[in-house]
Amino acid sequence: MPLLLKTLKDTQSLAQQLAAQSHATDCLALYGNLGAGKTTFARYFLEALGWTAEVPSPTFTIAQFYELPTHTLWHLDAYRLKSADEAIEAGLEDCFQNGICLVEWPQNIAGLLPKNRLDLHFSLEENSRTVEYTGHGHWQHIALNF
Ligand SMILES: Nc1ncnc2c1ncn2[C@@H]1O[C@H](COP(=O)(O)OP(=O)(O)OP(=O)(O)O)[C@@H](O)[C@H]1O
Ligand SMILES: [Mg+2]
Repeated sequence: MPLLLKTLKDTQSLAQQLAAQSHATDCLALYGNLGAGKTTFARYFLEALGWTAEVPSPTFTIAQFYELPTHTLWHLDAYRLKSADEAIEAGLEDCFQNGICLVEWPQNIAGLLPKNRLDLHFSLEENSRTVEYTGHGHWQHIALNF
C-alpha cells in the first residue's frame, strides 16, 4: 500500500521514523522520477539525525559525506553513473562499508546495493505524492506509524 505524502510534514515524519531505525551499513535506496521528493527526504533524514547546516543535492558531486553526532552518513546520487562498475571506479564501494547510505537513482548502481536495504519508491502524479517501500534483510520487518 502506498503512503500518501500530502505535505512536507509527511515526508519529515517518514524520515524521522526511518532515521530512528537506521544503523551503520544500512542503505536506503531512494527511487523516483525527477522532482519526486528524494532529496527532500534525505534532508529531513539528516535533520532527524542532528544535522543543522545545508544539505546540497549531490547530483554533481555524486557523493556527500556527513559526520553526525551518532552516525556517519553518505548521501549519493547515481543519476550520472551508468553502472555499478563505474561507481566502483569512482570509489563508491567503500561508502557502503561504514555509516548509513542514502542513494538517489539506485537503479543505476543496482549491483552495489547492500542486502540490508530499504527500497523507497517516491512518486509524483497529478499533484499527488506517494511512497511505497520494500524492506530487504533486517529491514523486512519495519514498523511505520502513518
Ligand atoms: N511531501 C511533499 N509535499 C510537498 N512538496 C514536496 C514534498 N516532497 C518534496 N516536495 C517538493 O518537491 C520538489 C522536488 O523535490 P526534490 O528535490 O526532493 O526531488 P528529487 O526527487 O530529489 O528530484 P531530482 O531527481 O531532481 O533529484 C521540492 O521543491 C520539494 O520541496
Ligand atoms: Mg534529488
